[in-house]
Amino acid sequence: MAVASEKTEIARSIADARKRVAAARRAGRDVALVPTLGALHAGHMSLIDAAKKSGAYTVVSIFVNPTQFGPNEDLAAYPRTPQRDLSACAEAGVEIVFTPVAAEMYPPGDQTRVQPGPLADALCGPFRPGHFRGVCTVVAKLFQIVQPDAAYFGRKDAQQALIIERMVTDLCMPVKIVTCPLIRDADGLALSSRNVRLGAEDRAEALCLYRALKRAETLLKGGSRSTGSIIAEMRREISPRADVKVDYLSIVDPQTLEPIGGSARRALVAGAIRIGGVRLIDNLLVDMG
Ligand code: PAJ
Repeated sequence: MAVASEKTEIARSIADARKRVAAARRAGRDVALVPTLGALHAGHMSLIDAAKKSGAYTVVSIFVNPTQFGPNEDLAAYPRTPQRDLSACAEAGVEIVFTPVAAEMYPPGDQTRVQPGPLADALCGPFRPGHFRGVCTVVAKLFQIVQPDAAYFGRKDAQQALIIERMVTDLCMPVKIVTCPLIRDADGLALSSRNVRLGAEDRAEALCLYRALKRAETLLKGGSRSTGSIIAEMRREISPRADVKVDYLSIVDPQTLEPIGGSARRALVAGAIRIGGVRLIDNLLVDMG
């Protein structure tokens, strides 16, 4: 492991990241970027492993991006584990960990934003106004800095991955977007950096979201297309505890995020709940054949 850690370099400034990536390019390497907010877990590591497997020179960015958090969201409480993240990246053989500071990512007088279209109005959109604008803006900046050949995103954030794909197409960005499977704990809970903020009792209760998604999957696969009654069934799986709040439970087309029609062959079943103040999202892609 010591050998791996000697190879992982930390770039804290944009100039430093650019210099190192340029050197790798001159050496003929393809470059892959894995953007993250840090507090890395096995979900993130699966993206990093996919990037490494491609043979590319792999850059992992760790930046808790302020513009994607609303005023009443958990920017300050977002978990930060810089030392552990660094060791995990070193062990995975990551070439550069890029940890910029907000003052450089958003320089004095900053005012430009990347505004996504209607894909950002579905699912999480109404509950997190401005969130995807902040995500698109920071990802566009990271693409400008690193200029990767490929960038890796997880299906855990299915809506985010779609919006980023749309942005890259719409703004003619020369980056291949690779979307990787959602990684779960053994009991089914979707891995999330926010899970560490759940106490043992809340963590057990949080599984109700996955159960609701699985219930919808069973009904869809069984031939039901009545989304209203499927969603009613899903709600019955959600914990009745007063501090468990549903933001949404939805069944949508996986490409457009619009409601599915009766002849749909695939559906994205997605949900967001808040439990003891921690917001969790999850989704299942259902193939109805
Ligand atoms: P973050 O939540 O740290 O996630 C970084 C990447 O890891 C995202 O592409 C996300 O989908 C993926 N990921 C998280 N949990 C996962 C899981 N259980 N299985 C598979 N992939 C998972 O998403 C963000 O950060 C930010 O919005 C970012 C894109 C970095 C922009 O700031």
